[in-house]
Amino acid sequence: MKRKVTKAIFPVAGLGTRFLPATKSIPKEIMTLVDRPLIQYAIDEARAAGIKEFIFVTSRGKGALEDYFDHAPELESSLRKKGKKELLKTLKNTNMDSGAIAYIRQHKALGLGHAVWCARRLIANEPFAVILPDDVIAAEKPCLQQMTEAYAETGGCMVAAMEVPPEKAPSYGVLDVKEDMGSMVSVRGMVEKPAQDEAPSNLAVIGRYILTPQILQNLQKIKQGAGGEIQLTDAIAQEIEADRDVYGYRFRGQRFDCGSKAGYLQATVSFGLSRPELRGEFQGYLDEMAALRNAAE
Ligand code: G1P
Repeated sequence: MKRKVTKAIFPVAGLGTRFLPATKSIPKEIMTLVDRPLIQYAIDEARAAGIKEFIFVTSRGKGALEDYFDHAPELESSLRKKGKKELLKTLKNTNMDSGAIAYIRQHKALGLGHAVWCARRLIANEPFAVILPDDVIAAEKPCLQQMTEAYAETGGCMVAAMEVPPEKAPSYGVLDVKEDMGSMVSVRGMVEKPAQDEAPSNLAVIGRYILTPQILQNLQKIKQGAGGEIQLTDAIAQEIEADRDVYGYRFRGQRFDCGSKAGYLQATVSFGLSRPELRGEFQGYLDEMAALRNAAE
């Protein structure tokens, strides 16, 4: 099996109800951190990892996503005429090569595993990545790149992993660790959204995966799991049962859960502070807020 990963699936069919009313008319993946949509962070991370084919699993009402990746000739020529080179560069960076991007519809919201399965014909017989754009990861070396480098050595299936407080385990897929090798763990089991007292560890799956095409075969037959949905976690767990290798990869970086409002706000603050042109003013404001709060206490 080749170990170069060039295809990635972006499941973006979710309704984003936690962000209503905003998501009534815009896909949640278009919501911005500072000035870039969440999906742009995911695409940039995939590109850095060498991904060449980008497969979006969408649903009704996600048209704005397709437009976002299209060329914008009027806008480009207007910026060119005005000599706005930097903005033009920023804009062009969102363009995708012809044929590099594909959209598949998930017709029913049957779960993450089902969304991935919808892309099976485009994956065919190659290893592939899955990126959940809700999980935004700030890292010196992009998370998926860390993983593709590790995967080149290990093969098998690999999921990004991170320690979470025990009371948070029920929100995640959780790993049952066989052997802990530091940045990498080998896995003997995986449970999707376990009850707190049934979680096999506090090592949670974060939304980056490198998977073998066998996962698509597993998904074909899998039954509904946690929450009545077809779970990707269950299809990966089947690999372990079949005695094939599954690894958890403790990435270096900070992950933000942009599927939740608190996580999204934290990411906004962190990405805002990481921008040199905003840092001074923004940090000043935060310091002022903190001083006011301290004075009030
Ligand atoms: C999904 C996966 C879960 C994983 C999580 C990471 O859950 O099913 O295994 O831990 O993403 O963000 P969701 O957050 O879509 O419920």
